[in-house]
Amino acid sequence: MSMSPRIVAVFGATGTQGSSVVQALLADGTFIPRAITRNSNSEKALKLKALGAEVAQADLWDIDSLKQALSGVEAVFGVTDYYDPKNFAQGHNSEMLLGKNLVDASKATDVKYFIWSSLPHCTRVSNGKYANVYHFDNKANVDDYLRDSGVPHSILYTGWFLENLWNYNALMPVLDSDCLELTAARYDPQSPQYFTWVERDLGQCALALLKQYKDRDSEVLSRTFYAISAKLNYTQFASILQEALGKPVSFVPSHTTGMQEMDDMYAFQSEFGLYPQTAIPDPHLISLGVKFHTLEEFSQEIKGRYA
Ligand SMILES: NC(=O)c1ccc[n+]([C@@H]2O[C@H](COP(=O)([O-])OP(=O)(O)OC[C@H]3O[C@@H](n4cnc5c(N)ncnc54)[C@H](OP(=O)(O)O)[C@@H]3O)[C@@H](O)[C@H]2O)c1
Repeated sequence: MSMSPRIVAVFGATGTQGSSVVQALLADGTFIPRAITRNSNSEKALKLKALGAEVAQADLWDIDSLKQALSGVEAVFGVTDYYDPKNFAQGHNSEMLLGKNLVDASKATDVKYFIWSSLPHCTRVSNGKYANVYHFDNKANVDDYLRDSGVPHSILYTGWFLENLWNYNALMPVLDSDCLELTAARYDPQSPQYFTWVERDLGQCALALLKQYKDRDSEVLSRTFYAISAKLNYTQFASILQEALGKPVSFVPSHTTGMQEMDDMYAFQSEFGLYPQTAIPDPHLISLGVKFHTLEEFSQEIKGRYA
């Protein structure tokens, strides 16, 4: 009996989240990742191809391109990017439209399993106090659409990416000193944050779900999971960084990110916490075999960046 290859379409494959999923699938070998990108000739896309991924070109705005890219696909890892300039330009609910397009295309092509990378609904959770955190609410609205679609799925929630330290300069050297400053706008130094080491932990969470959605369907399908490596406050994180990097690290909440939406996001997280009702690390992911990394391991690994 010949087995057809098990293809997983990975959205955002040239970005932080999707590349973690592609890497985890390649390392494991059960599935062939199909990296979906708007430009299959980009340097990042070509690199994924060289690593052994398939590459297919599609745009979340173009449902026909999605259907084509999903042909022969068993499962989808779905993520959308609110702040991509071409998406952002289309208005505050653009990200939700993109997510819905992906759900519709997955349903039309009979995708067997869909993992949706999501965030909480700030307006609902804060009872209207934080009603303008669009890049959260859009994703959460897609949760509802996905649940109603009938496509077999899981929702995978993420936290504050540790990669923000360099991608968004959240950890910066202080001029004319040996010190580093960790910053997040308007964050109470004692409020917990939920941290995700995307590169090491997100991909293995997705992989564990993909490998077990058939055999352990009752534990996986229609459920929500939390790809959170650690929960602690920024002051504690600064001291872990300080210990590993061997230089003073202090947490200094900034007054503003320069963007209202981001400021509201941080204020929301500081006041309500991303996932206050949830045990961290997620016991359901642990029981599916996920081994989360620690912030100590992370801090050791990134030493070279701040030497
Ligand atoms: N930073 C954080 O702390 C944090 C925490 C939780 C959640 N998030 C969420 O993470 C999401 C972004 O994920 P990321 O950081 O992994 O992304 P990223 O590194 O910024 O890369 C964006 C990815 O999205 C793809 N993309 C954008 N628009 C697309 C479209 N119209 N059609 C198809 N693909 C499209 C890009 O592919 P091509 O350019 O190759 O087409 C690229 O792979 C955001 O929505 C953000 O809200 C971020």
